[in-house]
Amino acid sequence: MSEQKAVEADEVSEAQIAVHWKEEEFIYPSPRFVSQALMTDPGIYERFAIENFPECFKEYADLLSWYKYWHTTFDPSDAPCWKWFVGGRINACYNCVDRHLDQYKNKAAIIFVPEPEDEDHQILTFQELYVRVNEFAALLRDFAGLKAGDRVTLQMPMTPELPITMLACARLGVIHSEVFGGFSGRSCGERIADLGSRVLITIDGYYRSGSLLDHKKKADEAVAVAKDEGQVVDKVLVWRRHPGQYASQTPMVDGRDHFVNDLLADYAGKRVDPVPLPAEDPLFIMYTSGTTGRPKGCQHSIGGYLSYVAGTSKFVQDIHPTDVYWCLADIGWITGHSYIVYGPLVLAASSVMYEGVPTYPDAGRVWRIAERLDVNIFHTAPTTIRMLRKAGPDEPAKYNFHFKHMTTVGEPIEPEVWRWYYDVVGKGEAAIVDTFWQTENGGFLCSTLPALQPMKPGSTGPALPGIHPVIYDEDGNEIAPGANAAGNICIRAPWPGSFQTIWGDRARYVETYYAKYCQDKDSTDWRDWPYLTGDGAMEAEDGYFRILGRIDDVINVAGHRLGTKELESASLTVEEVAEAAVVPVADEIKGRVPDVYVSLKPGHDASDEIAAKVKAAIDDAIGKIARPKNVYIVPDMPKTRSGKIMRRVLAAISNTMEIGDLTTLANPDVVEEIRIVVQGVEKLATRKGPADIARFGDE
Ligand code: WT7
Repeated sequence: MSEQKAVEADEVSEAQIAVHWKEEEFIYPSPRFVSQALMTDPGIYERFAIENFPECFKEYADLLSWYKYWHTTFDPSDAPCWKWFVGGRINACYNCVDRHLDQYKNKAAIIFVPEPEDEDHQILTFQELYVRVNEFAALLRDFAGLKAGDRVTLQMPMTPELPITMLACARLGVIHSEVFGGFSGRSCGERIADLGSRVLITIDGYYRSGSLLDHKKKADEAVAVAKDEGQVVDKVLVWRRHPGQYASQTPMVDGRDHFVNDLLADYAGKRVDPVPLPAEDPLFIMYTSGTTGRPKGCQHSIGGYLSYVAGTSKFVQDIHPTDVYWCLADIGWITGHSYIVYGPLVLAASSVMYEGVPTYPDAGRVWRIAERLDVNIFHTAPTTIRMLRKAGPDEPAKYNFHFKHMTTVGEPIEPEVWRWYYDVVGKGEAAIVDTFWQTENGGFLCSTLPALQPMKPGSTGPALPGIHPVIYDEDGNEIAPGANAAGNICIRAPWPGSFQTIWGDRARYVETYYAKYCQDKDSTDWRDWPYLTGDGAMEAEDGYFRILGRIDDVINVAGHRLGTKELESASLTVEEVAEAAVVPVADEIKGRVPDVYVSLKPGHDASDEIAAKVKAAIDDAIGKIARPKNVYIVPDMPKTRSGKIMRRVLAAISNTMEIGDLTTLANPDVVEEIRIVVQGVEKLATRKGPADIARFGDE
C-alpha cells in the first residue's frame, strides 16, 4: 500500500482536479410523471436489500423470456468471476425481436434518422427487423461460417445495419465486438487481434457534419494491423450506406471483401431459429481504456446482462412499449449497447437512432427530430447538453416537443447545465435521472428512481435497488455518508449486469477491479470482493452520491474513457520525442480533455511541425476523439530523484492550479520554464485544489 501511495503522489487524477459545487436543493417530479410511472413502489428497495441477495434479481430476469429457467441464481465458486442464472437457457435476439411480434409486429422498433436532412427517416417495424435480422443471420452462418462462441469484430457507425448485425450475431450466439466508428483503423486492428476475430463487419461510408466519410479504408488498415499482430481476417463484410452505390474510394479486396447487400439476395426470406444458449455465455465484448496501454475487452453475459438492462430500462428510464425513446449516444459505446439496442428493444419500445452530429446543419436539428417523431424519452451526456446549449440556448423553445423523462450519463453535470436541461429542454415537465455507471457494469449503478425520489442537480443520486456502494479511503476504512470527504467508491455485492472477466486476461480482471480491497484472495464469499470502480466520490447524508472523476490514469473526455498511457505511447512513436506525459485539463464543453507534454531528443528544436506530428500520431493510434487540447514541447519533464515524471505538476500548470510542494523534484527549476511555455511570462491567477480532494490519495 505504501508503494502505491508514493506512486499516487506523483500522478494526478481527474478526481484531484475536480471542482466542487455546493449541495443543491431537491426538485420533485411532477404528479403527471408519477401517475404514469412504471415503478412507484418504494418497497423495491426492501426487496433488493442486501439480505435478499441474490434472489432479488429474479425480478429483473422475469422480465425476459427463458427457454429454460436457471437452477442456480448466483454461483460464486470461481470468485470473482461470478456466474448468474446458471442452468438457464435464453436468446437475446429472441427477447428483443421475436417475442414482440404477436403484439407489436407493425410497430416501430428502430427509427433511423440519417444526417442529411433531405434523406427521409427509415422505420423498421418489429416485423421488418425480424426479417432483416434473420436474413443476415443466415448469411453469417452459411456464408461466413460463424457459429455460437465465435467472435466477430464490427466497426460500424450509427446506421440500422449496426443493430441488425448485433442482433443477428446474438441470434446465433456469435459474440459481437463493436469498435466505435470514430476510432482509427489501427485501434480496430488491435482489438481484432486481441479477440481473435477472423471476420470484420463494416460499412462503406457514413455522414458526419455534412460529408460522406470513407469508412471502408479503416477496415483495410485494421486488417493489416491485425495481421502484423498475428491474426488473419479472411472475410470483410461491407454494408452499403446507399444500396446500389459505393460510398468509398477504397477498392474492395478480391476474395476477402464482400458486399453484404449483394450477398443478401441469396438469403431473401430465410429464417434462422434463435439458438437457446446458456445464460452464462458471452453476448458481446466491449473494449475500454485502462491504466496501461492495452484496452480491456469487457465480457458481458447473455442472461445477466439482459436482465439488468431490462430492469434498469424499465424502472430508471420508465420505458413503456408505447414510448418513443431517443438516446443520442453512439452504439459504439456501452451506453448505446445497453440503452439504444438491448434495453429499449427488450421492452418493445421504439428506439430512435441518429446518424450524425447533433448540431448539423444547425442548433435546432435535435429538437426538430424530437418534434417530428414525438420523442418522449431523451437520453444524452453532459457534453452534448453543453454543446447544444452553447450552439442554441433558445432553440428548444421553438419546437413543439415534450419529454416526460430525460437521462444524463457519463460525466458529472454542472448544476447550471442541469438547470438548462431541466428548464429549457425538459420545459419543466420532464423528470431527470443522472445515471452513474461504467462499461464494465452493463447498466446503471446509481440514479434516482424517477417517481420515487427527488432530483438533486450535480449528484447522481442514491444507489439503485440491489446495488450496494461503499466509499473506502486508501487504507480500506469506510468513509461515512455526510463526512464531507472523498474516497474510492466500490460496490459491495455483485449484480447480474456486471462483466464476467477481461477477455483473455483473468489476472488483469482480478488485479484491476478487486485486488485493492480484497482481504482473502482464496475466498469464494462475495463479501470479500468489493468491486473497485476507479472513481472518486462523496456520499451526502441523504445517501446521494457525487462522482468526482477517475482516480487512475484515465481521462473521461466528453463522456468517453481514454487512457493517458495510450496517448503517451502514441506520442512516443514520433521520432523526435524523448518523453511524453499526458494530463487531464478542464474543458468548457467536453468536461476534460488531454494536454500532452513532450520533451525532445537531443539535437531537435521545438517546432509546430513536431507538435503536429504528435497530434497525427494520436489520430492514427486512437482516433480523432483523443485529439489533445494542447501539445506542449518543454525543455525537460519535472522529475523525482528516482526519475519519475511528476504529472501532478504538469496538471497543476495546465489547470492553473497551485503547483504545490516541489521538494521531491530533482529539477525544480524546470517548473517555471514549463509554466512559461504554457501560461506565458505573466503569471496567471491560480486556484487552490479542493482541500478534501487534495488530501484524498495525495499524501
Ligand atoms: C466513467 C465510465 C457507461 C456510461 C458512459 C461512460 C464517469 C459515468 C457518470 C455520472 C459522473 C460519471 C465515471 C466512470 N461517469 N457516469 N453520471 N456522473 N461521472 O462509460 O467510458 O466506461 O466511463 O464515466 O468516471 O468511471 P465509460
